[in-house]
Amino acid sequence: MLIEMRKLTKTYGEGDQLVHATQDVNLEIHEGDFIAVVGPSGSGKTTLLNLLAGLIGPTSGTIKHKAKEIQYLSMEERTAHRLENMGFIFQDYQLLPVLTASENVELPLQMKRLSQTEIDQKTKWALEQVGLGDKLNRYPRQLSGGQQQRVAIARAIAGRPSLILADEPTANLDSKTAQDIIDLFKKLNTEFKLTFVFSTHDQRLIDQVKRVLRIKDGQIQESNE
Ligand SMILES: Nc1ncnc2c1ncn2[C@@H]1O[C@H](COP(=O)(O)OP(=O)(O)OP(=O)(O)O)[C@@H](O)[C@H]1O
Ligand SMILES: [Mg+2]
Repeated sequence: MLIEMRKLTKTYGEGDQLVHATQDVNLEIHEGDFIAVVGPSGSGKTTLLNLLAGLIGPTSGTIKHKAKEIQYLSMEERTAHRLENMGFIFQDYQLLPVLTASENVELPLQMKRLSQTEIDQKTKWALEQVGLGDKLNRYPRQLSGGQQQRVAIARAIAGRPSLILADEPTANLDSKTAQDIIDLFKKLNTEFKLTFVFSTHDQRLIDQVKRVLRIKDGQIQESNE
């Protein structure tokens, strides 16, 4: 098992302002899973992904990643754990505008203190996987939205993490480009057994996914379609 959540709760605020962003969530994620997280605005999708990534810590409950209990880690340890094991893809890509495509992909690899040869190899591999092997030196502003998201995907997969998390990765894209991005996720999932958990509002994408986590008021109802 890759991830195990037990009674995971995250609350914000207090008193009558108290919000259960996730409430007693039990969840198991296995290597090679391909999971869509869906639910109305404010239901807790981003909170769930941020908990999975260790970007935030839970209020109570446990979360294991490869048998390691990450809720006890300090912020610094969680960051190191994330760098080693996960890739995160954002709705708005979050590329650095002053860096080229390959420099953006290199950044987290630099933080892992790999040799430059290894960094170059991994960067080239990742950008080729997303179909941008010929655009290594383009700046984000010289790329379309879909291409920028591909750079962000390359950055997430370059370190060959066990888990890729994506918070509404296609929300800013037209439907054809959104489909291309999901096709790319599927390809990476099949070819490299990369595990994907992504949130989306797009019913056409949800229809293509076997394992769907429906969130409502911080609670999960799972369906296998
Ligand atoms: N930092 C915060 N402080 C206080 N409340 C928060 C915070 N982050 C989220 N919440 C609350 O937690 C609940 C879940 O929010 P979350 O962002 O996880 O929802 P979501 O499903 O991602 O929504 P959306 O579809 O709009 O992105 C909401 O009621 C939200 O207002
Ligand atoms: Mg959200």
